[in-house]
Amino acid sequence: MEKMDAEELFQAQAHLYNYTYSFIGSMCLKSAVHLGIPDIIFKNGQPITIPELVLALQIHPTKSGYVYRLMRLLVHAGFFATTKVVKDDKEEEVGYDLTPSSRLLLKDNVPTLSPFVRAMFHPALVHSSEFLPEWFHRNEITPFDTAFGMGYWDYLSQNQEFNGLFNEAMIGDSGMINLVIKDCKYVFEGLNSLVDVGGGKGGVGRIVTESLPNLHWTVLDLPHVIENLPDSTNLKFVGGDMFQSIPSADAILLKLVLHAYSDEDCVKVLKKCKEAISNKGKEGKVIIIDIVVGEKNENHVLTEAKLFFDMLMMVLVNGREREEKEWEKLFLDAGFSHYKITPIFGMRSLIEVYP
Ligand SMILES: C[S@@+](CC[C@H](N)C(=O)[O-])C[C@H]1O[C@@H](n2cnc3c(N)ncnc32)[C@H](O)[C@@H]1O
Repeated sequence: MEKMDAEELFQAQAHLYNYTYSFIGSMCLKSAVHLGIPDIIFKNGQPITIPELVLALQIHPTKSGYVYRLMRLLVHAGFFATTKVVKDDKEEEVGYDLTPSSRLLLKDNVPTLSPFVRAMFHPALVHSSEFLPEWFHRNEITPFDTAFGMGYWDYLSQNQEFNGLFNEAMIGDSGMINLVIKDCKYVFEGLNSLVDVGGGKGGVGRIVTESLPNLHWTVLDLPHVIENLPDSTNLKFVGGDMFQSIPSADAILLKLVLHAYSDEDCVKVLKKCKEAISNKGKEGKVIIIDIVVGEKNENHVLTEAKLFFDMLMMVLVNGREREEKEWEKLFLDAGFSHYKITPIFGMRSLIEVYP
C-alpha cells in the first residue's frame, strides 16, 4: 500500500465511491422521469432555462433552488446538454436541452423507454436487489424469492399494478425494433405463420405485421398477460405455458425470454420450439432476440449494460446473459444443427437457429 502512489489511491477512492453512489445517479434519473423533465423540455420547443423549468415543474416552492443541482448531475451523466440561450433582456443564460438518451424518455415518442425505466425503478425490483449479498448464504433460487417468498412471475400474476407496468415496459422496449425493421424484415419474409413465445402484449407482432400483413402472428403468453386482448386479422393471442405446449408454425420468436431461464429450462423450451416448427422441415427456424455477451466490437457501454442485465436476471429469475459458446451449447443440446448471430439491436442480437 505504502509503495502505491497517493494519486493512484485517491483515484481508487473516487472509483469506489462512484460505484457506491451509483444508486443516487439512478434515483436522479428516476426523478427526471417522474417529474417529466424530458417532456417539459420537448414542449418548450427550445433549450429551457432553470427558472422556466422550475415554473413548468410545479414543485413545492421550497424546492426551486434544488433543480439546478439535479440538472447539473444529469448533464454530467449525459441525459441533458447545456447550451447558451439569449433571452428578451439580451442576457445570455444557460439552456438545458435533450440528448439522444432523454429523447428516448419522451412519453409520446415511438419508441419510448419511459415505461421501461419507470418499471425498473419499481420498489419490488429495488428491494429484491438489496437481498443479493444475503442470498449468497441462503438456499432460495433468487434474491427475489428471498425478499418476497415467491418467484418473480408468480409475483407479477398476483400484482396487477406491477404486471401492467412491466408489460407496458416490454411494449416500449419492443418499439426499438421500429428503428431497424427495414433491415431485419428479411428474417420474417417468406413465413406464413409465426408464434411469438412469451410475446407479452404483442409489441413486436404489431410492428412486424404492419409491414408484413400476410404473416399470421400468434402471441403465446401466460393467461394473466394476454387476458382481454382482442385478436385482429393477423395477430392473435393464446394463453398457455411454453413448457407445456407451443402451437405449430413456420417459425418461433423468443424475444428476451430465454435470458430469464436456466440452461436446463432453455433446452426444454427450445425442444418444444423444434417440435412446433417440425412441419416446415429444414426451412423452419427459431428466431431469438436476446443478449450475447462479449460480441466483437462491443464497446464499454454495451458491455456494462449487458452485465447489469445479467445481474438483474440473477436477482429476479434465475436466468443469465450468455456468451456465444453458451448459446451454441443450448442449441446443440436441444437438437438444432446451426445458427447465425447478427448484432443488429444494440445490446441485443438477432439469432436465427435452424433444425
Ligand atoms: C421479458 S418478457 C418479454 C416479452 C416480449 N417478448 C418482449 O420482448 O416484449 C418475458 C415474457 O415471457 C412470459 N412468460 C414467462 N413465463 C412463461 C411461460 N411459462 N409461458 C409463456 N410465457 C411466459 C412473460 O409473461 C413475459 O411476457
